[in-house]
Amino acid sequence: MSTILADGIAEIRATGTLAGLPRNHFIDGRWSTPASGERMASDDPGRGAPFAEFANGDAADVDRAVEAARAAFQKTWRDVAPAERGRILQRMTSLLREEADRFALVECLDSGKRLAEAQGDVRGVIRAFEYYAGAADKLEGARLPLAKDYIGFTLDEPAGVAAQIIPWNYPLSTAARGIAPALAAGCAIVAKPAEQTPFTALMLAELGHRAGLPAGVLNVVTGTGARTGAPLVAHPGIDHITFTGSVATGIRVMHAAAENVTRLVLELGGKSPLVVLGDADLDAALDGVIEAIYENAGQICSAGSRLVLDRRIADGFLDRLVARTRGLRLGHGLDDVDVGPVNSALQLGRIDEHVRCAKAAGNDILCGGDIVHPAGANGGWFFAPTIVAARSPSDPIVTEEIFGPVLAVQTVENLDEAIAIANCTDYALVAGIYTSDLNKANRFARHVDAGQVFVNEYFAGGIEVPFGGNRKSGFGREKGMEGLRSYCRTKSVVMRLR
Ligand code: NAI
Ligand code: MG
Repeated sequence: MSTILADGIAEIRATGTLAGLPRNHFIDGRWSTPASGERMASDDPGRGAPFAEFANGDAADVDRAVEAARAAFQKTWRDVAPAERGRILQRMTSLLREEADRFALVECLDSGKRLAEAQGDVRGVIRAFEYYAGAADKLEGARLPLAKDYIGFTLDEPAGVAAQIIPWNYPLSTAARGIAPALAAGCAIVAKPAEQTPFTALMLAELGHRAGLPAGVLNVVTGTGARTGAPLVAHPGIDHITFTGSVATGIRVMHAAAENVTRLVLELGGKSPLVVLGDADLDAALDGVIEAIYENAGQICSAGSRLVLDRRIADGFLDRLVARTRGLRLGHGLDDVDVGPVNSALQLGRIDEHVRCAKAAGNDILCGGDIVHPAGANGGWFFAPTIVAARSPSDPIVTEEIFGPVLAVQTVENLDEAIAIANCTDYALVAGIYTSDLNKANRFARHVDAGQVFVNEYFAGGIEVPFGGNRKSGFGREKGMEGLRSYCRTKSVVMRLR
């Protein structure tokens, strides 16, 4: 273990917090106190107690950040050569590698996720910056095939000033998958992290400026959705919005965007099916299901929260799954545990309510089902890993996103029924299947409604793979080269020659 990690863990254990966390917004290349002078607290979910304060922003702070971003975009950033933008992103990659442990520690403390998961997130973030550093000078436009006296081509121009609204489940990862391609494309940014997890986005902005980003190119304002997020997405100085979060707030953001005709990408929730057919490698499938629903305590938009089981193997598979689930150790993210806490008391209450309704409706709880207080944890917000045998495909336990460690199980007779069941919710984010028959995998991939399909490894892929949903899961794609193009606008140029 590195000294940064060992010292940080010792400091958290002794003091409950870490010294040197950001307390202010990051606007125009420097720390900036909130106009109101107000601060709010962020909690350590593993203890269920506040550990540090940050700026409680409002519309005045948003105005300053958007103004700084507009000036930086127009005066410098959009005209910086793509290769030079790539070099700055490469320096951000190097600094992130050096400071990875500090980022992971802060992410663990602020979000509640296990330290090992936070370290995995930071590795993904480093990879995202590396990927888009390399992509910045490889965005090629098109030559348009016109008659011989014309020259036609397209330019991929940066969209302008991009707003990023970031949720609390993957604070740094979600920030990075928006910020890295936006910077590579030549956009300036105003990011608003969730009020539950503000710190790593602020740290990333400060790191970006040490790496050479001109002042104003990357700004972060913190605060609540109502006071800070709403004025940001309604701001006429914003050219593009990327929102990740709930369907209800996504709809609100879309209304605000409509007022200014601002383009947007919405990455909303999911209730993603994971199908296990009788011919699958059942050991691999078991590991896949456990990761799909209990990683980050189930607080993942793409969690595999609906298990669709081939009836021929259902009983034996469920017995093993329940036994594995009962053996999972819960506790603070810094301890050696399998599942960490839920991010907030509010989210814990929401999960509990979903499971209570499922019980009241007569669904069968195979394990878990309640709020728990793990031995060794000093307070904190924990929900027992839970498996529910669903009564019917229309039960809310099957159709509603829970965003917690709660798995709904359905059984089917064959692949066609599995596809029909997979498509039976309003969401269409991702879908997974375990089978040894690639013909069946292919048929599933073609017929399931989802933005991404995993075959024989749930969550397979990386920054190279476009990500996003259909229907109530939103629209637009992040990651991959599509993620870069979503921060560009196409300009077509046609010249008449003689
Ligand atoms: P939320 O969608 O309200 O919050 C997400 C982000 O939006 C936060 O940064 C928040 O401050 C901001 N926000 C809130 N109101 C806003 C507004 N009017 N304008 C602009 N920004 C605004 O989600 P919340 O309340 O934290 O969680 C509710 C449910 O949403 C969860 O139980 C879960 O089901 C789902 N969710 C889905 C996520 C995903 O990855 N797709 C992430 C977080 C939550
Ligand atoms: Mg927090």
